[in-house]
Amino acid sequence: MKLVGIAGSLASWKTNVAVHTVLTEARRLDSTVETELIDLRDFEVEFANGNPLAYFNQDTFNVVNKVMLADALVFGTPIYQASITGALKNLLDHLEPDAFKGKVTGMITTGAVEKHFLVAEYQLKPILSYLKGLVPTGNAFIHNDSYNDENEIIDRDAFERMHKLAAEVIQLQKSLG
Ligand SMILES: Cc1cc2nc3c(=O)[nH]c(=O)nc-3n(C[C@H](O)[C@H](O)[C@H](O)COP(=O)(O)O)c2cc1C
Repeated sequence: MKLVGIAGSLASWKTNVAVHTVLTEARRLDSTVETELIDLRDFEVEFANGNPLAYFNQDTFNVVNKVMLADALVFGTPIYQASITGALKNLLDHLEPDAFKGKVTGMITTGAVEKHFLVAEYQLKPILSYLKGLVPTGNAFIHNDSYNDENEIIDRDAFERMHKLAAEVIQLQKSLG
């Protein structure tokens, strides 16, 4: 199984660390799982404008293809204005409506406002569902206070949520065959 993680922040590192942690947990739970982390700051993904993928630059083509070739995905985003980042939305805008058919699509959010833990459910889940992704029942919201100054996750409960998300992604993807 190829599990691809997307880190949708162009600013700092908390989302990258959280996605990396879920991918690491997935490999620890099942050594046959192959993982790849795509940090959107490493790629020049052009703005989706309705043109076919062939019209876009190599980075856009490569990132979209990595997403399409994954068996399962976890999407990580900081919460921006009670929603997801424009960078992640732009990547999702490049995809066809059945892009995630037969794929499990997990959600990880980071944020500074505790009450925004539901943003994944209300903002990201509808997009993943529209693209036919199977969204796990659990998602991981990691509050900024769960990190130390080096952006290491120091909160046991946050780690447990990421562990459970990794386990559910693997279990669901296996059940899809
Ligand atoms: C433009 C902007 C808007 C933000 N809006 C919210 C918000 O609505 N709710 C929230 O909980 N955090 C908000 N934040 C805080 C970030 O979500 C938070 O610091 C996150 O952990 C940053 O992730 P990163 O280190 O991966 O960039 C915002 C940050 C920025 C820069």
